This record gives sequence, C-alpha cells and structure tokens, in this order.
Amino acid sequence: MNHPLNAIRGRRALVIALLTVASVGRAQAQAPIALGPTCITTECHAEVDEHAFLHGPVNLGQCAPCHVPLENKHEFEAVSSAQCTMCHEVEVNQPVVHEPFADDCTKCHSPHGEQNRFFVKGGTGAGGCYQCHEDQSEHMAFVHGPVAMGECLACHTAHQSEHPKLLTDPKEKLCGACHVEMEARISAGVSIHEPAQGDCTGCHDPHGSNEAALTRAPGKDLCRSCHEEFIEQMDHFAFTHTPMTEGRACSNCHDPHASDQDHLLASKTMDLCLSCHDKSIKTDHGVLANIAEEVENASFVHGPLREGNCVACHEAHGSQHEKLLDRAFPETFYAEFSEAQYAICFECHDKALITEEASSLTGFRNGTENLHFLHVNRKKGRSCRACHSPHATNQAKHVREDVAFGRWKMDVTFETTPTGGSCIAGCHTNYRYDRELAADNSRPKK
Ligand code: HEC
Ligand code: HEC
Ligand code: HEC
Ligand code: HEC
Ligand code: HEC
Ligand code: HEC
Ligand code: HEC
Ligand code: HEC
Ligand code: HEC
Ligand code: HEC
Ligand code: HEC
Ligand code: HEC
Ligand code: HEC
Repeated sequence: MNHPLNAIRGRRALVIALLTVASVGRAQAQAPIALGPTCITTECHAEVDEHAFLHGPVNLGQCAPCHVPLENKHEFEAVSSAQCTMCHEVEVNQPVVHEPFADDCTKCHSPHGEQNRFFVKGGTGAGGCYQCHEDQSEHMAFVHGPVAMGECLACHTAHQSEHPKLLTDPKEKLCGACHVEMEARISAGVSIHEPAQGDCTGCHDPHGSNEAALTRAPGKDLCRSCHEEFIEQMDHFAFTHTPMTEGRACSNCHDPHASDQDHLLASKTMDLCLSCHDKSIKTDHGVLANIAEEVENASFVHGPLREGNCVACHEAHGSQHEKLLDRAFPETFYAEFSEAQYAICFECHDKALITEEASSLTGFRNGTENLHFLHVNRKKGRSCRACHSPHATNQAKHVREDVAFGRWKMDVTFETTPTGGSCIAGCHTNYRYDRELAADNSRPKK
C-alpha cells in the first residue's frame, strides 16, 4: 500500500524549504549534526516532550512523519498542514471555513504537545480564541454566562461549519439548546412575538452588553428598530404614562418573547395595572388613588372592571386626554353639556339617558322628569363624576361616597328605594325621586 507520506511529498514537490529551527541554526554555526537514532535526549530537544499532553507521534518518539530530513542530513522540509491531514481525516469541505483552518493548523495547534488534550495554543477556552480575537467582554458590564466561562465552543466550531459565523447550530436553534425554559415559554405562548420565533440575536448580543439582559439597546430604543411608528407616536401624547420609559420600559407590561395573554402582555390586563396601582402614587400634580384598594373594598364594581378591562377606558401607552382616558371626559365637576365631552361613557351607555328631557330609559327620574337631563344637560351641567365613580363604590348605581369640590371633599349619601332613591349632598337638602309617583322636594314654607 502506498504510504500517505509519498502522496504528500509529491504534492509539495516545489515547497522545499528549510525548517528554521534553532538546532538547524546551531548546526550551521558548528559542525554539521548527524541524524541520531533518537532525537530526544537530555542534550537535544528535551523540551519537545515537556508537555502535560503529548501528541501521538511525539509520544512514540516519532519525528519523521512531520520532520522529513533532506538528503539524510540534519536539515528538514518545511512542515505544513498537509502533514496533519496525512494522519487526521480532516477536510475543508463545509460552506463556512475559519480562515486559519484553511491556512495552517499550527496557528492554533502546537504540534508536539500542550497543557490541554487538543494541543490548542492558549487552551480550548476563550484564551485560545483571544490569541487572535479581541476580548470584548472587558468593555461590557454584562457578560453572557458561557462567554464569561470561556466556552466559545458552546456556540462556535473552531474549524468550519454549515452555518454562518461558524455557529454550531442554525441561529434559530442555537439559544434554545440551553434556554429550554424560554423555548418552552415561547412555544406555549398565546401570543408570540415574531422576532422571538427566529433569531434571538436581533435583540440580544450573544457575547455581552452594557445593558441588562444582554439587550442591544436600552429600554424602548430596543423596540424602536422595528416599531418606529409606534415609538414616534409617543412624542405626540399630551399625557404620558411613566412606565413607558422608566424601569424596564416596555417590558414593564410586555413580555418581549411570548405570553399567555394577547398582545404579549406580561399578565392579565387588570393584574398588570394593579401590580403598580395597588398603592397611592405621588405625581407632580398630586396623589393618585390606590385603585386595587378601591376595587377590593367595594360592594359595587363597574362592569368593565368586573371583566378586568382597564383599557376599556384608559390608554396604557399615553393619551390626548387627562388620566390617560382613551376618549373625552370632562376634567371638572361642572361642564357645559355636549355629547362629545362624554364620549367615554357613551361608548357603552345610551346617550339618551342624558339627552332626552323626559325619558323612561333612565332610572334617575322623578315621575317622567329625567334627572340626568336636569343635572347634566345644561350650561353649568354637573359632570358624571359629580355623582358617579368610574371604578367601584359602596353605594348602589356607582354613586360615589364623596366628591372633590375644589378643596372640599364633599360627602354624598345615596339611598335607593324599589321605585327611586334619595340623595344628601352639599348640593341640596335631602332630595328624593320616585319613578312611579313623582316626589315633591319643595320645602314647606314657614
Ligand atoms: C505532527 C508533526 C510533528 C511531529 C510529529 C514533530 N514535530 Fe517538531 N515541529 C512540527 C512543526 C509544525 C514545527 C514548527 C513549529 C511551529 O510552527 O509551531 C516543529 C518544530 C520543531 C522544532 C523547532 C523548535 C520549536 O519547537 O518550534 C524542533 C526542534 C522540533 N520540531 C523537534 C521535533 C522532534 C524532536 C520531534 C520528534 C520527537 C518532533 N519535532 C515531532 C511538527 C512536528
Ligand atoms: C503520524 C501521524 C500524525 C500526524 C502527522 C499528525 N497527527 Fe495528530 N495525532 C496523531 C495520533 C496518533 C493522535 C492521538 C489520537 C488519539 O489519542 O485518539 C493524534 C492526536 C491529535 C490531536 C488530539 C485529538 C484528540 O482527539 O485527542 C490533535 C488536535 C492533533 N493530533 C492535531 C494534529 C495536527 C495539527 C497535526 C499537524 C501539525 C497532526 N496532528 C499531525 C497522529 C498524527
Ligand atoms: C482556529 C484554531 C484552529 C485551527 C486553525 C485548527 N484547529 Fe483543530 N481544533 C481547534 C480547537 C479549539 C479544537 C478543540 C475542539 C473541541 O474541543 O471541540 C480543535 C480540535 C481538533 C482535533 C480534535 C477534535 C476533532 O475535531 O477531531 C483535531 C484532530 C484537529 N483539531 C485537527 C486540526 C487540523 C488537522 C487542523 C488544520 C487543518 C486544525 N485542527 C486547525 C482549533 C483549531
Ligand atoms: C490564529 C488566529 C485565530 C484564532 C486562534 C481564532 N481565530 Fe477566529 N478568525 C480568525 C480570522 C483571521 C478570521 C477572519 C477574519 C475576521 O473575521 O476577523 C476569523 C473569523 C472568525 C469568526 C467569523 C467567521 C465568519 O464566517 O464571519 C468567528 C465566529 C471566529 N473567528 C471565532 C473564533 C473562535 C470561537 C475562536 C476560538 C475557538 C477563534 N475564532 C480563534 C483568526 C483566528
Ligand atoms: C451563546 C453563543 C455564543 C458564544 C458562547 C460565543 N459566541 Fe461568538 N457569536 C455568536 C453568534 C450568534 C454570533 C453571530 C452574531 C451576529 O450575527 O450578530 C457570533 C459571532 C462571533 C464572531 C464574529 C463577529 C462578527 O461580527 O462577525 C466572533 C469573532 C466570535 N463570535 C467570537 C467568539 C468568541 C471568541 C467567543 C468566546 C469568548 C464567542 N464568540 C462565544 C454566539 C456565541
Ligand atoms: C451553552 C449554553 C447557552 C447558550 C447556547 C446560550 N445561553 Fe444564554 N445563558 C446561559 C447561561 C448559563 C446564562 C446565565 C444564567 C443565569 O445567570 O441565570 C445565560 C443567560 C442569558 C441571558 C440572561 C442574562 C441576564 O442578565 O438575565 C440572556 C438574555 C441570554 N442568556 C440569551 C441568550 C441568547 C440570545 C442565546 C443565543 C444567541 C443564548 N443565550 C445561548 C447559557 C447559554
Ligand atoms: C424583541 C426583542 C427580543 C427578542 C427577539 C428576544 N428577547 Fe430575550 N429579552 C428581551 C428583553 C427586552 C429582555 C429583558 C426583559 C425584562 O426586562 O424583563 C429579555 C430577557 C431575556 C432573558 C432573561 C430574562 C427572562 O425573561 O428569562 C432570556 C434568558 C432571554 N431574553 C432569552 C431570549 C431568547 C433565547 C430569545 C430567542 C428565542 C430571545 N430572548 C429573544 C428582548 C428580546
Ligand atoms: C426585530 C424586529 C422587532 C423588534 C426589535 C421588536 N418587535 Fe415587536 N413586533 C415585531 C413584529 C414583526 C411584530 C408583528 C407584526 C406587528 O404586529 O407589527 C411585532 C409585534 C409586537 C406587538 C404586538 C403583538 C400583538 O399581538 O398585538 C407588541 C406588543 C410588540 N411587538 C412589542 C415589542 C416590544 C415591547 C419590543 C421591544 C422590547 C419589540 N416589540 C421589539 C418585530 C419586532
Ligand atoms: C403600562 C403598561 C404598558 C406599557 C409600559 C407598554 N404597553 Fe404596549 N400595550 C399595553 C396594553 C394593555 C396593550 C393592549 C391594548 C389594548 O388592548 O387596547 C398594549 C398593546 C401594545 C401593542 C399592540 C397594539 C397596539 O396598540 O398597536 C404594541 C405594538 C405595543 N403595546 C407596544 C409597546 C411598546 C413598544 C412599548 C414601549 C415603548 C409598550 N407597548 C409599553 C400595555 C403597555
Ligand atoms: C410599572 C408600573 C405601572 C403599571 C404596570 C401601570 N401603571 Fe399606571 N401609572 C404608574 C405610575 C408611576 C403613574 C404616575 C405617573 C404618571 O402619571 O405617569 C401612573 C399613572 C396612571 C394614571 C394616571 C395618569 C394621570 O394623568 O394622572 C392612570 C389612569 C393609569 N396609570 C392607568 C394605568 C392602567 C390602566 C394600567 C394598566 C394597563 C397601568 N396604569 C399600569 C405606573 C404603572
Ligand atoms: C369605565 C371607565 C374606566 C375603567 C374601566 C377604568 N377607569 Fe380608571 N378612570 C376612569 C376615569 C373616568 C378616571 C378619572 C376619574 C376622576 O378624575 O375622577 C379614572 C382615573 C383613574 C386613575 C387616576 C386616579 C386618580 O386618583 O386620579 C387611575 C390610576 C386609574 N383610573 C386606573 C384604572 C385601573 C387600574 C383600571 C382597571 C382596574 C381602571 N382605571 C379602569 C375611568 C375608568
Ligand atoms: C366599556 C363599557 C363601559 C363604559 C365605557 C362605561 N360603562 Fe358604565 N357600565 C357598563 C356595564 C357593562 C354596566 C352594567 C354592569 C354593572 O352594573 O356594572 C355599567 C353600569 C353603569 C352604571 C349603573 C350601575 C347599575 O347598578 O345599574 C353606571 C352609573 C355607570 N355604568 C356609569 C358609567 C359612567 C359614568 C361612565 C363614563 C365615565 C361609564 N359608565 C362608562 C359598561 C361601561
Ligand atoms: C346628579 C347626580 C348624577 C349625575 C351628574 C349623573 N348621574 Fe347617572 N345616575 C345617578 C343616579 C342617582 C342613578 C341611579 C338611578 C336609579 O335609581 O336607578 C344614576 C344612574 C345611571 C346609570 C344607570 C342607568 C340609569 O340611567 O338608570 C347610568 C348608566 C348613568 N347613571 C350614567 C351617567 C352618565 C354617563 C353621567 C354623565 C354623563 C351621569 N350618569 C351623571 C346620578 C347621576
């Protein structure tokens, strides 16, 4: 059988050069050294086998497979990668080839031995790679687990690969191999973020980052690259919502990967809102009520809140209307009536409750006199907020227990009867209404 060495010699007929080794230099200065029966003695080449791990042929004291003497002298042909492939079945045959792999195996491997079993210069960890690549983790506040551990080969192959950037797996599969929980979360999602189904590196730097969670940009800037229009609209809100920009920004409410809720919401809408609105919140303009407490302690909870739907009335992102309302609602106790002003309530309630002077639609009537019309539908109308609380109350018909009248917190005591009700507030004495037999609220003259 033809010795593989012959084939290699044939291929390299032209590449005959001297091996520039110290011993050769010495040989030229002194008398020519004859090839000995063995190359490793205490005087000669002792260092060649001083390694924790020895390369197979060196371990056997065999030098000749690689150092081919020229005309039986102590002069040698140049050693090249071809000598390695003589014994190792290594072929450059994949679409993505690491430049030094195609060039010269000994750029990475020590031919004689090393401190590691693959004889990699600098080690099989990051140290080997940093022989040529810059260690960028030094400039990063957050370094990815495997990178910090020097496990470059968890994601990259050293020689060649089927995948761009010498990755061990296609990009869509790479991260899930370790992040099995995330993978499971995504596949179980009711809503799944399109980019999280493919390439995670659109948002994460696989090596490290100056942002928490290895994101490529901070907060909403990360989302901007794909949701430009959405982010732009934020600049035009008259009223903004702090969590849009503070803390984890969009991730305060959205899971950027997937969720068991619609719209990638981190939890059910109301739970989400109440996760922050479970305490009173100080703002530049005052103190916001603790909504969780309002709802929990109430005997009567308004329909949309019973359905957990805070966004029936509020815009989570920002709004043109006060209190992040998604439609118009008067800001004040008194308001001149117009339908448009009450858009938020008329979204669900028939406007005829207010617009018809005599209506059997509303329960708030005295005989046929519509008391909604009376109170609301006029130049100095009382807005709904004067009597109703939009969230929850302890009085029937969502009549509030108190209302701010300027600086005064005015008590409102409301009672119902089967056919009507009565109200004591700072506005008037105890007035009654009765839908069947109109009540007479005129006071007896003294
Ligand atoms: C698998 C191939 C291979 C074998 C086997 C091998 N060498 Fe080498 N040797 C090389 C290569 C390649 C170089 C060039 C060094 C480099 O580029 O890192 C080299 C360099 C040397 C040098 C120059 C000094 C140095 O370390 O760079 C000496 C001396 C040497 N070899 C001696 C030996 C002796 C003695 C043996 C047998 C015990 C041996 N080699 C076996 C491949 C081999
Ligand atoms: C004469 C045959 C021969 C030549 C030439 C040769 N090797 Fe080896 N190499 C071996 C043997 C034998 C082993 C030990 C295999 C084992 O332990 O499974 C080995 C082991 C290795 C290993 C460790 C592999 C492992 O699985 O543990 C690496 C890396 C390696 N060689 C690289 C090279 C490189 C680079 C060259 C060229 C500079 C080269 N070899 C040239 C025979 C050779
Ligand atoms: C960029 C550096 C680099 C170059 C260039 C390189 N290797 Fe490697 N090689 C490595 C590293 C790192 C490992 C360890 C791989 C691991 O742990 O999976 C390795 C492992 C090996 C192994 C053992 C594992 C295996 O794949 O069988 C052999 C054999 C080997 N290399 C041969 C070669 C040969 C032959 C060449 C040249 C054609 C070469 N290497 C070029 C870095 C390199
Ligand atoms: C001997 C020098 C050398 C060593 C050691 C080395 N590389 Fe490279 N690497 C290069 C060169 C040269 C390139 C091509 C030019 C570039 O992209 O910088 C390259 C490119 C790459 C690329 C980009 C490939 C592509 O297709 O764009 C990756 C990924 C890479 N190296 C990873 C590694 C890893 C991981 C290690 C350690 C296991 C390593 N390199 C060790 C020299 C080296
Ligand atoms: C968790 C997986 C993972 C680990 C671990 C990892 N990389 Fe990467 N690396 C990647 C991915 C994915 C890319 C492609 C990045 C991209 O397209 O933005 C990449 C790209 C590269 C590139 C090419 C950069 C370019 O811009 O073309 C180099 C070089 C590189 N990595 C070196 C390393 C080194 C060195 C280590 C170890 C210190 C390492 N990588 C560890 C996943 C990883
Ligand atoms: C080899 C296993 C492995 C692979 C592959 C891997 N990771 Fe990781 N990743 C880890 C480990 C380990 C941690 C640290 C876990 C911890 O601290 O809880 C981590 C942490 C993270 C973190 C969280 C950092 C933080 O601050 O909470 C992110 C984000 C991440 N990886 C993204 C990715 C992405 C994207 C990919 C694919 C490009 C990827 N990982 C591939 C092992 C891996
Ligand atoms: C649209 C951008 C985006 C994409 C795509 C994305 N992530 Fe994330 N990821 C983030 C953000 C933002 C955070 C920080 C979330 C936070 O603050 O709670 C994060 C956090 C993480 C964390 C740590 C916290 C946690 O929730 O466990 C891991 C692990 C993670 N991502 C892995 C992945 C993996 C794996 C993929 C691909 C399947 C991926 N990410 C795709 C934006 C993204
Ligand atoms: C790489 C591009 C990309 C990035 C970066 C990105 N998204 Fe998306 N996002 C999409 C695509 C594509 C869709 C689906 C099409 C659509 O609804 O516009 C989407 C949809 C969404 C949806 C709507 C889901 C639904 O069911 O209604 C939300 C919410 C969302 N993204 C939030 C975010 C947040 C928060 C960030 C930043 C952490 C972010 N996105 C970053 C590409 C991206
Ligand atoms: C305070 C919680 C909260 C924050 C913070 C938040 N969102 Fe939302 N987002 C929601 C809710 C709730 C919905 C569902 C709205 C609905 O059903 O009307 C939603 C819906 C969406 C949608 C899909 C429907 C639409 O309006 O187009 C996108 C896209 C979106 N958000 C992107 C973002 C981005 C980008 C950020 C960060 C700049 C962000 N969100 C911050 C709560 C929030
Ligand atoms: C991460 C915490 C957080 C979450 C989640 C959150 N908010 Fe807020 N919200 C705040 C803070 C802080 C303020 C006070 C500062 C401000 O006005 O932006 C506020 C203010 C408000 C205001 C009053 C705005 C004004 O102009 O006075 C309303 C209304 C509101 N939030 C509704 C909601 C709704 C509805 C949700 C659920 C979709 C929600 N919030 C989720 C933190 C949160
Ligand atoms: C039916 C419509 C509606 C629904 C549903 C609704 N709100 Fe409101 N919310 C309002 C109106 C109207 C105001 C303004 C009330 C006022 O100024 O007296 C308001 C005010 C607020 C305020 C500011 C409170 C303050 O003290 O100024 C917060 C915070 C708030 N809502 C959170 C929520 C949360 C959280 C939910 C869901 C649990 C929710 N809202 C559901 C209509 C609604
Ligand atoms: C998203 C739809 C929706 C919006 C917007 C809405 N409501 Fe309601 N409202 C309901 C539903 C459903 C009921 C019936 C369930 C119940 O008794 O709470 C109801 C009932 C009522 C009741 C009567 C409760 C009873 O016991 O008969 C009052 C009063 C009321 N709403 C006032 C308002 C006011 C004031 C507004 C504007 C700030 C408003 N609603 C906005 C859905 C809505
Ligand atoms: C002066 C106090 C007052 C004002 C202002 C007021 N309401 Fe009422 N509203 C009541 C009372 C009292 C009832 C209970 C009637 C009953 O006995 O059933 C009621 C009942 C309702 C009901 C239940 C259906 C019905 O009409 O019986 C709705 C819906 C309602 N109001 C909506 C509104 C809206 C919307 C506004 C603002 C446009 C508003 N209210 C303004 C006192 C008021």
